[in-house]
Amino acid sequence: MDISAWLKSLEDTGFATGVRHSLYLFPFLESVHVMALSVVFGTVMVVDLRMLGLASIRRPFTRMATELLKITWGAFAVAALTGAMMFMTNARVYAANTSFRVKMLLLVLAAINMAVFHLTAGKPEAVRRWDTAPSGPGPAKAAGALSLILWVAIIVAGRVIGFTTTGKEAKEAPPPAQNFDDFLSGAPGDSAPVPAPAATPQSDSTANAKTSDLTIKIIMDTMVDPSGDFLFESVADISDDRGVTHKAPRTAQEWDAVRHHLQVLIDAQPLLIAPGRRAANPTDRSANPAVENQPEEVQKLLDAQHADFVQRADRLRQAAASGLKAVDAQDKDALLVSITAIDKACESCHLHYWYPKDKRAHQAAKEEGGIIE
Ligand code: HEC
Repeated sequence: MDISAWLKSLEDTGFATGVRHSLYLFPFLESVHVMALSVVFGTVMVVDLRMLGLASIRRPFTRMATELLKITWGAFAVAALTGAMMFMTNARVYAANTSFRVKMLLLVLAAINMAVFHLTAGKPEAVRRWDTAPSGPGPAKAAGALSLILWVAIIVAGRVIGFTTTGKEAKEAPPPAQNFDDFLSGAPGDSAPVPAPAATPQSDSTANAKTSDLTIKIIMDTMVDPSGDFLFESVADISDDRGVTHKAPRTAQEWDAVRHHLQVLIDAQPLLIAPGRRAANPTDRSANPAVENQPEEVQKLLDAQHADFVQRADRLRQAAASGLKAVDAQDKDALLVSITAIDKACESCHLHYWYPKDKRAHQAAKEEGGIIE
């Protein structure tokens, strides 16, 4: 099995999938990891400073080192375990991430530094000579200083991993290029390179909504709402007097239909946020003005808070993208989670822009949870 297949198999374990679908598990693992690492760093730092003659200089080195390093190793085991668990959730992305690689290299260097110290100035018979001295000899000081530098660097690299991997997904490699003759004869692509397909040009309607007469209302009516309705209907737990029935796609065609409607929601996002996109036509009137904003009121909010609108539209896109992953895995539970997130993304945006005066809707959102008002 090659490495990337092995990494993918880690991502596909039930554990990794469960963590990815949970709102709380990853932050929990990350918190434990950070706490354990703080203990490792804190205890290692005290020992290093002792060797440098900068802290605890009146305590014998062996006594404090044996006491503290027990805690260090316990905490290190917890950090390594939680680290491995987080790695599994997105193994291919982490393995390819430069900061992750740097962090692993630094950990190896810290281990080598520690091993060299224990074989030289840190040997029991060598330590006896400086155990009660205020600082270690030159090599011990060098090991202490190097250890401090390496651990600070490990923490920095770890923090950068978080910034550079968030929201990344591993992509499958494209199939090897074939030309049409090979395709007909069934032969694999020969050495003649086949030019990659040209990138699809940015569609004009997304580049400039002013040239398109679509409004947000029309995009809602023709794309977002029909696809949303299809999705809400496709997966559900229905409870009636016959008990609870789980409704979910079964055949390949049903899964494909779900995929297409998720794709519509993803593709609607750039249309919704295109610069110059109007909420509705001036002649459109709200049927329920007591709670709904009129188009011009929606427009005023949109103009004042475009970044917020972009963020809410992106939540819809992300929820739909997570649905695509669930479809790929034919995972009904994960699909239900994604479709619930889609529902909440619709409601979040509507509560803010469309019917902010609707007290009952705000109350319901509070009770349901996960909706940003
Ligand atoms: C990023 C914001 C945003 C998201 C996400 C969003 N909508 Fe909307 N939607 C709006 C706005 C704004 C309006 C009101 C437009 C107007 O009439 O001025 C609207 C209006 C509607 C309407 C009424 C259209 C009409 O004819 O008056 C429907 C139905 C609708 N949305 C369905 C959905 C569904 C279903 C989803 C989720 C799958 C969704 N929307 C997600 C912003 C959003």
